[in-house]
Amino acid sequence: MERRLAMIGFGTVGQALARILLERKGELWEKEGFVAQITAISDMTKGSLYHPDGLNLTEVFLALEESGTLEAYPETSGLQRGWNSLKTIQDSNADTIVEVTFTDVETGQPAIEHCRTAFEAGKNVVTTNKGPVALAFAELSELAEKNGVYWGFEGTVMSGTPALRMPRFALAGDRIKEIRGILNGTTNYILTRMEDGVSMENALLEAQNKGYAEADPTGDLEGFDALYKMMILSEVVMGIPLKRKDVLRKGMSSVTSEDIQKAKTGGMRWRILSVIREEGGKMSASVQPVAIPEADPLAGVKGALNAVTYVCDLLGPVTLIGAGAGRMETGFSILADLIHLHHQKR
Ligand code: HSE
Repeated sequence: MERRLAMIGFGTVGQALARILLERKGELWEKEGFVAQITAISDMTKGSLYHPDGLNLTEVFLALEESGTLEAYPETSGLQRGWNSLKTIQDSNADTIVEVTFTDVETGQPAIEHCRTAFEAGKNVVTTNKGPVALAFAELSELAEKNGVYWGFEGTVMSGTPALRMPRFALAGDRIKEIRGILNGTTNYILTRMEDGVSMENALLEAQNKGYAEADPTGDLEGFDALYKMMILSEVVMGIPLKRKDVLRKGMSSVTSEDIQKAKTGGMRWRILSVIREEGGKMSASVQPVAIPEADPLAGVKGALNAVTYVCDLLGPVTLIGAGAGRMETGFSILADLIHLHHQKR
C-alpha cells in the first residue's frame, strides 16, 4: 500500500523523517507492507512543493543544500509551488499530515489549527508538537474520532522512546497512580556536564549544538517543557487533565556548580524530577531540581537521556529509559506513529 504524506514544516525533525523514509524505503515495504510517499512540503521559510505522484527526496535535499530553500527543486509537469500550510492540508492528495511546524507551546499555534483543519478534511495527523496535546487533547481527539482518522503524537514526550505507547497499549488494564521521571533532555544534559566540571553556559551551548534545546531554551531551563509533557502524561495516560497552574514548577537556575560538586562529594546527584500523583481523583504535580542518592536509578540517567516510571497497581513500577530529544530520535517517533497508523488501517 502507498501512504501519501504532506509535511507541514520542514525543519530538523521533518528532514530527519524524510531521510529515514529515503533510507528505509525497501525495509518498510518488506516488513510493514507500505511505502510512504511525500507528496507535499510546506514550510514558512523554505517554501512549498506539491506533486501528486510524490516528490523526489534526493532532489529535495539537493535543493536545500544549494540555497537552504526548496527553490532549486527541478520543474516537472504537475509540480505546484507556493501553497500555504492550510491549502496543502486541504488540497493535496496526502492522506496523512505530518505536523512539525515551529509552534509556540504556550498557545499551541499554528499546530492546533493545522490538526483541526486536517481532521475536518478527513486526514490523519502525526505531530511532535506538544501544544495540541497539552492544550487541546479532548477537542482534537473527539474531532479525529468523529472523522474516523488517526492522531499520532508519540514524539511529544521523550522523542521516539515509547513513553506514551507503552502505558497506553502495553500497560492497558493496569491503573497508573503515579508517574515520575526526568522529562527534559537539555537540563539533564547540562546537569550531567556540570558534574564533569563544565560551566552551565558552555553546557547549554553544547546542548543547543546537539539539537536538544528548544529554539528559546528558557522553556527547558525554567521547567516549562517538562511541565507541558506532564500535562500530556496526566491527561493521555492517567485520564486526568492538568492545568499549567496546578504544577509546582522550579527551574534549574537555582542549582549552582558549587551545589553540584558538593552533592557529588556527598554521593548525591542533582536531577530535575517531574512527579504526578493521583489520590482520590485529585492530582498533585511538580517539576523541580532535587538532589538524589547516587544509588537511585534516576541518578544514572545521564546526558540527554530521559526516564519515566509508571507506578501501576497490578504490575508495580515500570521504568523506561531512553532518548528524550534529538533529530533522528524524534524523526523515529513519527515513523513509529506511521507504522501504527498503517496497522490501524485508517
Ligand atoms: N527541548 C526538549 C528537551 C526537546 O530538551 O527535552 C524534546 O521535547
